[in-house]
Parts: sequence; structure tokens; C-alpha cells
Amino acid sequence: MPFATEIHSAPGTLADSAADLVAIPVRTDGDRPAAATAGTGWSPEALDTRLPAPSADLIAHYELTGKPGETATFPVDLGRGLVRLALLGIGAGTPDDLRAAGAALARLAKGRERVAIATPSLVQDGRTGHDAALSAFAEGALLASYTFSMKSAQKGPRPVPAIDLVADDDGAVAEPVRRGTALARATALARDLINTPSLEKDPAWLAGRAEEIGTEAGLDVEVWDEARLEREGFGAIIAVGQGSVRPPRMVKLAYRPENPTSHVVLVGKGITFDTGGLQIKPTDNMMLMKTDMSGSAVVLGVVSALAELGARVSVTGLIPLAENSVSGSAQRPSDVITTYNGRTVEVLNTDAEGRLVMADAMAYAVAELDADTIVDVATLTGAAKLALGTQTGALFSTDDALAEALAAAGRASGEELWRMPLVEEYRDTLDSPVADLANIGTKTDYGHPGATEAALFLREFAGGLPWAHLDIAGPGRATGDDGLITKGGTGFSTRLLLRWLTATP
Ligand code: BES
Ligand code: MN
Ligand code: ZN
Repeated sequence: MPFATEIHSAPGTLADSAADLVAIPVRTDGDRPAAATAGTGWSPEALDTRLPAPSADLIAHYELTGKPGETATFPVDLGRGLVRLALLGIGAGTPDDLRAAGAALARLAKGRERVAIATPSLVQDGRTGHDAALSAFAEGALLASYTFSMKSAQKGPRPVPAIDLVADDDGAVAEPVRRGTALARATALARDLINTPSLEKDPAWLAGRAEEIGTEAGLDVEVWDEARLEREGFGAIIAVGQGSVRPPRMVKLAYRPENPTSHVVLVGKGITFDTGGLQIKPTDNMMLMKTDMSGSAVVLGVVSALAELGARVSVTGLIPLAENSVSGSAQRPSDVITTYNGRTVEVLNTDAEGRLVMADAMAYAVAELDADTIVDVATLTGAAKLALGTQTGALFSTDDALAEALAAAGRASGEELWRMPLVEEYRDTLDSPVADLANIGTKTDYGHPGATEAALFLREFAGGLPWAHLDIAGPGRATGDDGLITKGGTGFSTRLLLRWLTATP
């Protein structure tokens, strides 16, 4: 799905632009906020004569501080009749600041025809670097213009069709904008899948979408239907899916560049709806469970953009897909199931279903895919959300270098991860009297650290490989529009995983 907003490079200066909204950045760098006029075609003095008052007075009048995303607008005549001018806070011009500024400008521009901003005024002091600055700005603007609607008639102002990045050497704009657009597009793809209601989105539907997405991106795609899953020993995916009339699937998508530097397997939780199973969730907790396939959507978004971004690592995406439903054929608490690697699990809670389907997929990766590294993404536990809230993802890892690389990619993306400990003492809470493992913690001594228990469970299926687990139950969805985020699925961790996968030379 192409964005409703397109970012163009336009030659010349703001004076030449036919935009109906023109933005002038306000930086906070020095002691006082100041308008950034580089590349506008006007010196600060010349611009002042065009404004209703000198820019410093306007900044004082509107009490602007220059903080990222802050705006004030007023009409001006820049030589082509009245247009609207926005003073746009860009802070110190860090990538985070520019994402926020791009997002604010896109939100402000709803209902307008064309926005223009001078590229040099955004990248002025060079601290962030020309390309990183422009790609962050594009990323923010596009993500903020994301919408999802199934209304029969669209209401409200429409996203602005065009944002012009104006520059003399507009050729230098195209590449960073392309990169920012690829990151935003991958995220929007994930958001669309997450926001699709589960009436439409069952495992077969999501497998079909994965096939389309993978084929379009030039990947090798393989789909397991329920018969094949059963035959090949994916006992956990089968057990979770058996309560639904809409049977489970698994999809593998392979990105294979020439002379790859290593092989990463990404595993994404794909529960297309989580009722909790027989241990059914209360209404409020079930409400947003169409988003319980966010991990798989993130993996699909990521693999869809690897070629476009020139990743040098081989990546295999694995998405186990099932609907955790309630029926006479649903798995029961106390059932013992056999996972792909032969280990048995006592299902003590049917609502701890994510770790079950993930276990099968991870065991498959270990046994069949010759992976160097496994990273999984899952809306796994309410406990992770309770611990870190909606702004930060929980990161667990058996490998310090991997954990630090992912955390760094998170910081660079504005998708923060916080590393949590895999406390060895807690491991025995997963012991079961009848099976190799229980799917929830059984000891009360440790105070039930739910996110850690789930992570320790998954670690049992990582085969000793360097492994990281992202629990995105908190930041995976949003209750309202805010900056880059639009209410609903966020696609959190898509951009950080792409940054991580493309950072390795
Ligand atoms: N999908 C949920 C986790 C979740 C909760 C995601 C809130 C997003 C927001 C998961 O399958 C689940 O139900 N986990 C249980 C585990 C418990 C039964 C051990 C939980 O977190 O309560
Ligand atoms: Mn659940
Ligand atoms: Zn779940």
C-alpha cells in the first residue's frame, strides 16, 4: 500500500514553490530558539521583511521553544499571494527530533495540497549528517500520515498528497528519502496487517498475505498447512490451533543475498486472535487481541524491505499462525503436548499460547535452518507491558553483543528496548511433574515474573544459539494518535530490526 503522502525532492528555493503550506524550522541549539533559513532563498533579514513581524518576535509572540514537533502557523505572502507558514520546532536536529518534526508537519498538513520545506534548513549544522537527517524526517512524516479505516465513506481532512524537500542539489535528497520511505513502508505494512479485524484475518488469510508480500519482495516462500504441520511434528502449533475452525499455518520466507555475512532467523508470534482458549480472557483483556499477531506482522514488514535496503545478511522469517479459540476441540489445561524437537510440555494455562507456537518455530529453526542467530518478536506477556509500559520493548538475550546491537538499533530508531535479566534461579519454576516443561511458572517463591518466565521458556528452544527475544506486548499497540504513532497496531520494532540487519556490512 503506497502512502497517501509522497515525499519529493524539488529543485530551487521556497520562493519558487507552489506549496500552500511552507515550513521554516526553529532550532533550539543556541540559548535562544531561532529560525533556520538556509536554503530558503532568503537571508534571515530578507525573510523577516516577508513575515508579519521579524521571526525572533514571532517566536517570542507564539512562545516557541523550538522543541521538536512544536508548531505555530500564520498567513504570509511570499510573493505568490497568501499561503500558510509554519514555524516548526526541530530541537537540536537529532534523528529523533527530525522524526518528531516530520510527524508534526504531516499532521499539521492534513487537508492541504502541498507542503514545502528547505532541505538545508533541516540539516544545517551537519551534526546528524545530511542523509540520516533527511531519512529520519521522511520516516516521521510518512508514519504520521498512516491511517487505517474501514469506513464506507472517508471522513475528516485527508493526508497531504505531497511534501517537497526543496534544495539546489535535489539529487542528494532522493536516496535518503528512499531509505526513510522503505522503513516507514515496512512499518505501515505491519500496521495494516495488525489492524485488520480477525473476522478477515485468520491463519490461512495471513499465510496468503505472507505469500503475496514475500513473492513481491523476491523471497522464497513456503507455507505449511495443518496436515503438514501435524505430519512433521509441530505439536504445539497444532495444539494451540485445534480449538478453532480456522486451522493453523506456518510460513517461511527466505531472503538470500549473494555472499551473505551470516544467517539470522526471525520468528514472529502469529496468534490471529487470542481469546485465551478454555482459560478464557475477561472481556477487557480480549478486546484488542486481534493484535496478537503483531510479531508476525513485524517479521513480514522486515523481510519485505531487506532487498530494498540492501541487507547483506541472509534472513529467514518464520511465522507460526494459529487462532487461540474456545470450543469442544480446544486444548485443555493439563494436556501434555509434544513440540517439534520432541520435548513435552504440560499446558497449565491455555492463555500462555504464544510461547507454545514460538517453541515449535524456534525448534524448527534450530534443527533445519542452520541459523547463526535467532531473534523472536512477540506480544507475549501482559507482564512486560506492566513492567515497561507502552513506550519500551522488553529485550531478553543470551548474548551480550547481540543485545547491545539490538538496543543500539532501538535507540537509533526511536524504538527503545530495555534489557531484562534471564534470572537463572527462576528456571526451575518451569519444571513439570509429568512433562519436560510447564508452559507457565509453577513456583510461587519468585513472585511470578511473567515476562521472564516466558523468556526462560523460549530459551529452552533456542538450541544454545545466540538468541534475543523482544516482548512487544506494551509498545505493540497504541490507544491514540501521538507523533509517529497512529491509534492501533504500531509495528513496533520493524524499523529497529531493519536498522540492525542493515548495519552489519
Ligand atoms: N497475548 C497475550 C499477552 C498480551 C497481554 C499481549 C496484553 C498484549 C497485551 C498472551 O498470550 C497471554 O495471554 N499471556 C498471559 C500469560 C499468562 C497466562 C501466563 C498473560 O500475560 O497474562
Ligand atoms: Mn494468551
Ligand atoms: Zn497471546
